[in-house]
This record gives sequence, C-alpha cells and structure tokens, in this order.
Amino acid sequence: MEKVDIIVDNLLSKEAAKIPRMNQLVIITTISTKGVVNAAVKSEVFHALTKPPVFGFSCNLGHHTCKNILEQHEFVINIPGEDIVGKAMKTAYDYPVGVNELDEAGLQALSSKKVKPPRIAECVAHFECRHEWHDIHGEEILIFGRVMAASLNKDLYEATIEERFRIARPIVVMGEYRYSPVHEVKKLVEKQKAH
Ligand SMILES: Cc1cc2nc3c(=O)[nH]c(=O)nc-3n(C[C@H](O)[C@H](O)[C@H](O)COP(=O)(O)O)c2cc1C
Repeated sequence: MEKVDIIVDNLLSKEAAKIPRMNQLVIITTISTKGVVNAAVKSEVFHALTKPPVFGFSCNLGHHTCKNILEQHEFVINIPGEDIVGKAMKTAYDYPVGVNELDEAGLQALSSKKVKPPRIAECVAHFECRHEWHDIHGEEILIFGRVMAASLNKDLYEATIEERFRIARPIVVMGEYRYSPVHEVKKLVEKQKAH
C-alpha cells in the first residue's frame, strides 16, 4: 500500500487524527484549597509505571485540574462506562472557579478511601492517586501520580474478562469528537516457549 507522509506538530490536529489511534476516556476528580470538588474529562492518560503503580496524564496549565493538583497533590482517575458518556462530557465545559462540576454534570460524589477528592459513584472503577512529580512543556503539564487505592464495581470484580467489558463498556476516544465503547474481547495467541 502506498504511504502518505503527514506533518504532525500537534497531536490534536486534523492531520494527526487521521492516524487510527485511541485513548481511554476518564474523569479526573480533584479538590480545591477551599474544598470545592472539580471534575474534568481527560483522554491523555496512560499507565506510566507498573511497580510502583503510577499513572501519567497531560493537562493544560490553565485548567482547574492542574491548579488543584499542584496545590493539594491528590486526584482520582474515574473510569466511566458508555451509559454516562453524556454526563462525562458535561465536565469538559468551562465552569467558573468555585463551581462543583460533579453537581453540574449530575454525577454523585462517593468518598475516597485514601485521598480527599471523591470518587464518582456512577463510574465503574477508580484509581486514587497522590501527585508524585510533574514536567511542564509550553502550555501543558505532564502529571504523574502514584496509585494509593483502587476500587471497582462488585459485578465487574466477579465477572469474567468477557463479561467485564460487556458490562462496563469503557470508552475510547478516536479524535474528531468520536468515541467507541469497548465491549468485544478476543484472546491473543499466547507466547510460545523457545525450543
Ligand atoms: C474527549 C475529551 C478529552 C479531553 N482530554 C483532555 C486531556 O487529556 N487533557 C486536558 O488537559 N484536557 C482535556 N480535555 C479538555 C478538558 O476536559 C476541559 O478543558 C475541561 O474544561 C477542563 O476542566 P478543568 O478546568 O475543570 O480542569 C478533553 C476534552 C474532551 C471533550
């Protein structure tokens, strides 16, 4: 197949979106110094280290999420299923400082076990994280957080992997404001022993 060269100087550009790649949609909850809960949908989140368990994500420096984490050093990564994608997207709106974005999105706060920001009751799973380090690049910050506690819905915990994804329908975003719920599970060929 013939290849087309493209210029990628911005991973959110129309050109970059032509590459079939995807990121999981999550909602990050944080809390301000005044105790106001903030929620924001994010997709540039990744498994950064395995042991210790560390997640990384990129955030615009101007976002409330960033300000709250630099001040309070804690956040929760909440995993939504497709059933709440509409509510999740409401957390992408620009609300003024002091607004509880969970209330605005019609989502319920559930106390976390190890950190101050709450979990989101309607989400299927949660990683409670402590901010460990960060790197600033232009208008963005790369934030790394160590997992202090993790939890998920009991039905998912008890399900097989096939059932788990069928129930949870986690969301991946693909660019151009499109998403897909992941609900099909196929087995990879297992690694063969060397002769
Ligand atoms: C599908 C989707 C994915 C997003 N992913 C990110 C992201 O990974 N990083 C980021 O900084 N903003 C991301 N945003 C934008 C934020 O959700 C949005 O700017 C939000 O208002 C920031 O909220 P805050 O100021 O309360 O932190 C995304 C928005 C959408 C719609």
